[in-house]
Parts: sequence; C-alpha cells; structure tokens
Amino acid sequence: MCSPRDEAELILRTARTPEEVEAMVRPRVAGLPLEQVVGWAEFRGLRISLDPGVFVPRRRREFLVGEAVAHATGRRSAARAGRGAVVVDLCCGSGVVGAALVAALGPGTPLYAADVDPAAVRCARRNVAGVGGRVYEGGDLFAPLPAALRGRVDVLAANVPYVPSDAVALLPSEARDHEPLVALDGGTDGLDVLRRVAAEARGWLAPGGCVLVETSERQAARAALAFVRGGLTARLTTSEELDVTVVVGTASAAPPGRVAPNSPTALASPAAPEGRTHGYAAPPPPVSGSKSSTK
Ligand SMILES: C[S@@+](CC[C@H](N)C(=O)[O-])C[C@H]1O[C@@H](n2cnc3c(N)ncnc32)[C@H](O)[C@@H]1O
Repeated sequence: MCSPRDEAELILRTARTPEEVEAMVRPRVAGLPLEQVVGWAEFRGLRISLDPGVFVPRRRREFLVGEAVAHATGRRSAARAGRGAVVVDLCCGSGVVGAALVAALGPGTPLYAADVDPAAVRCARRNVAGVGGRVYEGGDLFAPLPAALRGRVDVLAANVPYVPSDAVALLPSEARDHEPLVALDGGTDGLDVLRRVAAEARGWLAPGGCVLVETSERQAARAALAFVRGGLTARLTTSEELDVTVVVGTASAAPPGRVAPNSPTALASPAAPEGRTHGYAAPPPPVSGSKSSTK
C-alpha cells in the first residue's frame, strides 16, 4: 500500500510527458488500481508488466513463491542434476508467479503457464517471454497445456480465485470494480476452482512433485482435504508477516501405481523457508468458526 506521496512519485517517475501524467492521474482518481494505471507492479524485485483488467499481483504471493523455490531447489539438488525443475503457473494472470520462479531458479527453467482470460494471457506473454516461458490459452485449467507435460511437472503453482461468491461484493472497489470476476470468485465457499485443481493435479505431477495454492486461514483445512482426496499428501504453511496460508500437495515419490520404498504414512515435507507448517496424510479435522486450529 503506497502513501499518496509515493503514488504521485511513482506516476511522475513512470510518465514521460505531462500529458502522460494527466492520463495516469485521471483514472487513478477514478479508482483504477495504481499498478494498472502505471502499467507495472513490483514483485520480488521484478518489474511485472500489467494491463487494465488484469489481476494485480499481491505482495503476499511472495510467500508461495518462496515455498515453491524451496521445493524446486531441493529436488534439483536431490536427483536431477543437469535439468531444471519443470514449472507450471496455472491461473497465471499476469504471469507474475512463473516469472518470479524462473528468476529465482535460473534461466533455462522450463516454464509453462495458462489462464482462461485472454487479457491475462496477453499480459503474461510479455512477462514470461524474456525468460523463455510459454503461455497457453483457450481453455479451463489444465486443458490448454501440452499433454506431454503429464507426469513431468515438478512445481505446479496455482493461484486460483478463492473469494467466496458472497464476499466478492465486500472486496475493496479496486478489486471489485477493476479486476475480472473470474479472477476473484471461487464459488460458494471459495474453493470450487481449487477442488478441481486438486482432483487433477496428481496426473500432471512428476513423482515427488508438488502443487501449491494460496488460501485464507479459514479455508486451509478444507483445501488440504481436497488435496488428500486427490491422492496427494498435504501440508499447510503460514506466514504471519504476510498474513497468508499456502497449501502444498505433494505426489508420492514413486511413479503412479508403485509404492515408494520405505514410504512414510505421513508426509515428510521439505523444510519450509519460513512460517509454521502442519502436514496431513489423512483427511484433516473439520473446521468451524473463524479461526482454523490446523496451522
Ligand atoms: C487470483 S488470480 C491469480 C493471478 C496470478 N497467478 C497472480 O498470482 O497474480 C486468478 C487467475 O485465475 C484465472 N482463472 C480463473 N478460473 C480459471 C479457469 N477455470 N481456468 C484457467 N484460469 C482461470 C483468472 O483469469 C485469473 O487470472
């Protein structure tokens, strides 16, 4: 969140002429998000190009990226010398998560991104083109991805919409009025899209690969349950500082149909870079009230 002075300075730094300053101030005064006005957002030191109508990258997403990097780095050093982790950014929006992952994991990291919204896809192509990523459009969730990726994905980041339908009207106007509904509305309890990702993820993950989604603390246990039902072990990890919970679902280290030697019943999760964690290999307890007891 910028102060008005910071906002003014950002506009003055971005605009090249007085006319451009005016062309930015007017929509900003009318309520357009600052990042859509200036055409970019900063994320983990990257300048992410952004168009009006495309979901604005949130700073709290840095926590998910950190978790994904920790997982990918662990896999690379474990057994995969010579090739980078295969990364998918599903529901990619501006492509911010994929771009940040390649920046952290190094050039040459194979990146595949997809989104149902053509405006998001256009924006994401600009942001991931420079790092060799590909953005697929034209369908629901995994549908546009090349079938050859099945069983090969090491890190699947899926920042799906997770606002419960009834709560969309309560969002700040910048989100409600200037970000597409498809980027916000997660259905009755906010988890409709997440459940569909959880049900399909295992078929795309490499043995030992993981899928990461962001949820609210309140939704986290139900999200973990969806992953367990999808055949994955699930771990919740929370950043107090960024006020965010990430659910990490991990595929068995053995190829589908085989049991990993000495496979533990409970998930032996890779060390989280920060935050508190809690793992599930069986369905978590039901959640009630506003405070989840499962973190
Ligand atoms: C919350 S935004 C996240 C965008 C980006 N990953 C980020 O972190 O800034 C959710 C994105 O999911 C996309 N989306 C929603 N439903 C989808 C679906 N069924 N298939 C593919 N993309 C979808 C939206 O278009 C939107 O760009």
